[in-house]
Amino acid sequence: MTPSVPAPLGARTPPLAEPSAWHEISLTVNGRPVTAQVESRLLLSDFLRERLGLTGTHVGCEHGVCGACTVLVDDKPVRTCLTLVVQCAGAELRTVEGLAPADAPLTPVQRAFHECHGMQCGFCTPGFVMTATALVEQHERPDEKQVADALSGHLCRCTGYRNIRRAVCQALDERFGE
Ligand code: FES
Ligand code: FES
Repeated sequence: MTPSVPAPLGARTPPLAEPSAWHEISLTVNGRPVTAQVESRLLLSDFLRERLGLTGTHVGCEHGVCGACTVLVDDKPVRTCLTLVVQCAGAELRTVEGLAPADAPLTPVQRAFHECHGMQCGFCTPGFVMTATALVEQHERPDEKQVADALSGHLCRCTGYRNIRRAVCQALDERFGE
């Protein structure tokens, strides 16, 4: 086999990747139709925060560990720091801003977090609230393991989790009439 010859010093090296392509996408965010030109590499977290100004979606770890950036995509919790916005073309998204508009009462999940003191600094809260909202909206009450599994994907550095679990259980009790 012929050994490859290294390029001479100073030779022009090709770019590592082609420039990112652009796409026009349409999706629904908090009930509002949105059409946008986006780069194929644009993260959903950046799209929501920087293009739409929805900064309630927090970005912590940026690699899928903390859960702070969670929103609902077609009613399922999704980590926006691991999702490209082009993957959401045609989808319905809900962010924390879409749960209770300024002139509406809090949702049962939001109220439960407030009443149970399920937050301190609040950085992790939007992610927890969106995952809890998905749990509460299921047709059947999730069992304790399902709740624990869902919440295990979220990190909080303040509360110790007890009050967060109490809040989610309170919202589930209200939803399922217990
Ligand atoms: S910022 Fe997305 S999981 Fe931490
Ligand atoms: S309330 Fe501060 S990180 Fe969770």
